[in-house]
Amino acid sequence: MKKLRKAVLPVAGLGTRFLPATKAMAKEMLPIVDKPLIQYAIEEAQAAGIEQFCLVSGRGKTALIDHFDVAYELEATLRERGKTDMIAMLDAMKVQPGSITTVRQQVPLGLGHAIWCARAFIGDDPFAILLPDDLVLSETPCLEQLAQAYAETGGNVVAVAEVPRDQTNKYGILRVGQDDGRMVEVLGLVEKPKPADAPSNLSVIGRYVLLPEVIGHLSQMERGAGNEVQLTDAMAKMIGNTPFHGLRYEGRRFDCGDKIGFLEAQIAFALKRPELAPAVREFMKHYQDAV
Ligand code: G1P
Repeated sequence: MKKLRKAVLPVAGLGTRFLPATKAMAKEMLPIVDKPLIQYAIEEAQAAGIEQFCLVSGRGKTALIDHFDVAYELEATLRERGKTDMIAMLDAMKVQPGSITTVRQQVPLGLGHAIWCARAFIGDDPFAILLPDDLVLSETPCLEQLAQAYAETGGNVVAVAEVPRDQTNKYGILRVGQDDGRMVEVLGLVEKPKPADAPSNLSVIGRYVLLPEVIGHLSQMERGAGNEVQLTDAMAKMIGNTPFHGLRYEGRRFDCGDKIGFLEAQIAFALKRPELAPAVREFMKHYQDAV
């Protein structure tokens, strides 16, 4: 079994749900407390042992690359001012030179198409996918949990969570085989089924470990839900040929592509910060009284 070293991060989306904030700014630069979504995703991948990153990007998204570059003027000014703690913080987020590569998805043809755009980066290796909109607060970073599961089972492993029945049309949904409460055998996958057609209420969330064979299926460019090239459809074609598991990860997931999920993540992540938590608890009392 090949070791997991590569991750693909699709970041070409327009972020229309966050207009006007995203008119001139990449939605993945939106911060949860003080850290942009893209940085949470890269740090989570690093914690899982990922060494090479491919951002599938689009026009107007250069800030995402600049964010991981050296900021000479800023660092020189901080040094002059003796802000050693801030310099240390910036040093800690530096990535290995040459470890981030980007490709462009020129046309928004769907998540499957975005992953296919990274095919040269993926080559013959297993790879992780992290959707930066999905943020998971957990003891062990979510992708590390998936990487451990992949080391146990090999094949494809996706992070899964139960969703309310009336929301199956927002997710990739599993048809479930054997289920030990933690790992589930994936027998089928359907992208965004209506609640009445959904084979379960177990959904894929934005963390995957996939074998490179998925690229061959994506190359067919078959259109699925929403007339897009769906990653879910290409994954479904691998079922039966190779082990395919869903992992009920430990942690709480926030859909930061949605305003309510984004706001909830702000509170949840702030409450994990000792220097912020007391003040946040205090002001929340005020809003509890106000409703
Ligand atoms: C994508 C996938 C879907 C998955 C979801 C997780 O959908 O297509 O299968 O369940 O991410 O967030 P999107 O949110 O891009 O519509």
